[in-house]
Amino acid sequence: MGPKSAVVCSIRHGGPPGQSFGRPKLDPDEFAARRQAAETVARDAGQLAQSYLADRRTLKVARKGPQDVVTEADSAVERMIIATLRSGYPGDTFIGEEGGGAVGERCWVIDPIDGTTNFARGLPHWCVSIALVVAGRTEVGVIFDPNADLLYSAQRGSGARCNNTLIQVSGTTEVAGAMVDVGYSSRTGIDDFGTMVTALLQSGVNVTQAGSAALGLARVADGRLDGYAERHLYAWDVLAGMLLVEEAGGCVNEFLAGNSLTTGNETIAATPALYAVLAAMLMMRRA
Ligand code: IPD
Ligand code: CA
Repeated sequence: MGPKSAVVCSIRHGGPPGQSFGRPKLDPDEFAARRQAAETVARDAGQLAQSYLADRRTLKVARKGPQDVVTEADSAVERMIIATLRSGYPGDTFIGEEGGGAVGERCWVIDPIDGTTNFARGLPHWCVSIALVVAGRTEVGVIFDPNADLLYSAQRGSGARCNNTLIQVSGTTEVAGAMVDVGYSSRTGIDDFGTMVTALLQSGVNVTQAGSAALGLARVADGRLDGYAERHLYAWDVLAGMLLVEEAGGCVNEFLAGNSLTTGNETIAATPALYAVLAAMLMMRRA
């Protein structure tokens, strides 16, 4: 789908990996303040979303496409996140899954509820995802999982944390026995998805399709999963989670190549040892 992209592995901390974009555009205190603001609003957003589940029978759900729904909570939560962050940072720009937005030098990228299908069904695997992109690179990533009360947070060069404790990707090196979350959307081909899943299963991988790319990436960052792969995702689904994986010592593809901030891209994240094989399987197409 999106442009092909290189791999970025941030195995050590202390310096920005990959390409240099002539940074920094903000000083470290300004990044830290924005990270803290994102952490606070992500928690509040998770609570607001949960309030819509008090009586799930009254939740308004609309179909966006095959295997794709949106609820009234998605838009309300997104509006709340943007209004809160905008009041603190009026010079920043905002892109949200539900309301679109504008790209700018300092751009917040927001998925109010990732895993909306799970959310609408009362399945406890969804999250709030907030990333800050500065001059084309993700600098802050925050994911809140209200069902497990886990707040994942990363600031580039400072490591990844879950509830304030540093996290690391798993040490898995063997493909057989690894556990990988895969995602599907109707934006890509069913047959190609099937080919990827078949290849993973034939290699002995435990495959799950848990239904939230953002939370899947957070689970790769904390080592519960060994990888996440999907042929096409939007920036709001993945930027926070991909920074978490990078900062936790994993490898990710360079998602923001080309126009991917607005058009999306393929997504691969894994332990350093598994990345290449997962990337190869994601690219397999039906013969
Ligand atoms: C979806 C989820 C899902 C992924 C889809 C996304 P949504 O986002 O992240 O896991 O496979 O591609 O669109 O609709 O739940 O915000
Ligand atoms: Ca999403």
